[in-house]
Amino acid sequence: MWRATVLTIFPEMFPGPLGLSLAGKANAAGLWSLDTIDIRDHAGDKHRSVDDTPAGGGPGMVMKADVLARAIDAAAADDARPRLLMSPRGRPLDQAKITSLVQAAGVVIVCGRFEGVDERVIEGRGLEEVSIGDYVLSGGEIAALVVLDACVRLIPGVMGEAGSSVEESFAEGLLEYPHYTRPQTFEGRPIPEILLSGDHAKVAAWRRAQAESMTRARRPDLWETYAARRVHKKTTEG
Ligand code: ADE
Repeated sequence: MWRATVLTIFPEMFPGPLGLSLAGKANAAGLWSLDTIDIRDHAGDKHRSVDDTPAGGGPGMVMKADVLARAIDAAAADDARPRLLMSPRGRPLDQAKITSLVQAAGVVIVCGRFEGVDERVIEGRGLEEVSIGDYVLSGGEIAALVVLDACVRLIPGVMGEAGSSVEESFAEGLLEYPHYTRPQTFEGRPIPEILLSGDHAKVAAWRRAQAESMTRARRPDLWETYAARRVHKKTTEG
């Protein structure tokens, strides 16, 4: 079973949306598990403090290294699972990262709060910082839910075939082509004729062309990588 452990000062935020729908059913079916550790349970004083003022001064508070280290050791000492720290300063999350996490035994996720986490526990406990985008959330919990949602849907048996075209598209470095279903005309807009032609090769070619032009227009960063890979493939394959 794929095992997730989340360390947070807000354990009530979990499983949250992951208790419903696909993820919830898969959890009930024993395909994955989720434990939450309340970081506050590992505080050393009667006030259960988890943060303190920043050394060197400045605004906000910093999550204490000793408290967080005790929480991590209680949850995941001698544990080979990757350890993530959700942080806007981390490496941006992508589908390749999700794939590698699903292939591991599970994941340990630390949810940062406050201005930041004492650098020494990041180093000392080998935490890998991961960001879900260039914006600042009030804490890592929602980011952790994002990581878990993206992982759980890839666990074998969770989803069936439905996701495969989206995955294939992303794995190739392209955005997905546009989708249509009945009615044949909606508010004067018809379904592109080629999709009704029954010609599978033509449909596939049309979809690829659409995916390419959409990627080029919306995500020049992805397009650059895709185009470079395509040129490389052509030259190596002759
Ligand atoms: N915590 C706060 N902002 C975040 C972000 N963008 N990604 C991951 N964790 C965060």
